[in-house]
Amino acid sequence: MVESKRERVNNLIKEKGFLWTVSYIFNSQVKEKISDKYALWINKKQLDAKDEKSFIDLPSHTVEENKRLWNNYDWSEEGEEWTSEVQKYKGIDPNQWKKQLINDLMIKNFTANKTILEIGPGAGRWTEHLRKIGKRVILADITKKCLDVCQERFKDDNKIEYHLIENNLDFLPENSIDQIWSYDVFVHINPSDIKKYIKEFQRVLKPGGIAIIHHSGMISDYIDKKEGWRSFMGKNQFSKILEDNNLKIISQNEDLVHLKGDIVSIFSK
Ligand SMILES: C[S@@+](CC[C@H](N)C(=O)[O-])C[C@H]1O[C@@H](n2cnc3c(N)ncnc32)[C@H](O)[C@@H]1O
Repeated sequence: MVESKRERVNNLIKEKGFLWTVSYIFNSQVKEKISDKYALWINKKQLDAKDEKSFIDLPSHTVEENKRLWNNYDWSEEGEEWTSEVQKYKGIDPNQWKKQLINDLMIKNFTANKTILEIGPGAGRWTEHLRKIGKRVILADITKKCLDVCQERFKDDNKIEYHLIENNLDFLPENSIDQIWSYDVFVHINPSDIKKYIKEFQRVLKPGGIAIIHHSGMISDYIDKKEGWRSFMGKNQFSKILEDNNLKIISQNEDLVHLKGDIVSIFSK
């Protein structure tokens, strides 16, 4: 069951008291909205100046906000509600799109029987396919609810491991991962948190290991139409972060994504 706003406020008052709740709502709603407007204004100016390397974090897309959002999300459609949106965004058949993404991104670039790390599995929309390829599939998410849903969905598959993380991959030894997959996750993560992950990818990937990461490639459509709850990241900013961490870009695909402007970057160590 997903909490309504009113239920959430009542529960907070019961748990933490009235004054705490008022101060929390002020901080999380009013202050955040003002800081968000400021960050959007700065980023829009950078976008107009075609300087995507200087995008800054949005207070609405922090780890805490992501955690709150996805822990309260109704996962009963297992993320396929986003697959269906392809019809609206691109006017193509959602099942065909998904099949093509799996064939042309996942299967073409990943080797079978390896250790795969998936960041942000949600309800397992892509895990379902990764588990057919991998020898060992490690799921890492900041949201407990997502890991619980996946654990129930894949309870008979003992090659899958579940890790509740805090925006880092501390639990993984260096040079331990062959392949990393993340779709519809980094599009919601702030630039500073993306940088932390990429640094970790350099540490945990085996030499020659490969990563497939879907992220924003900011275009003004997002800001004006507010499509997709995107964080600010650009194609060039992403490749610069890879370069700074000694990772090699293989390709940056703009056609296979479900929302125009997004990018899938494929890179190796
Ligand atoms: C829009 S859902 C996508 C789920 C799944 N990848 C899919 O495509 O159906 C976003 C997922 O990313 C996770 N997430 C958000 N921020 C994260 C972060 N900083 N680190 C790891 N996972 C994160 C959420 O908990 C959720 O599982």
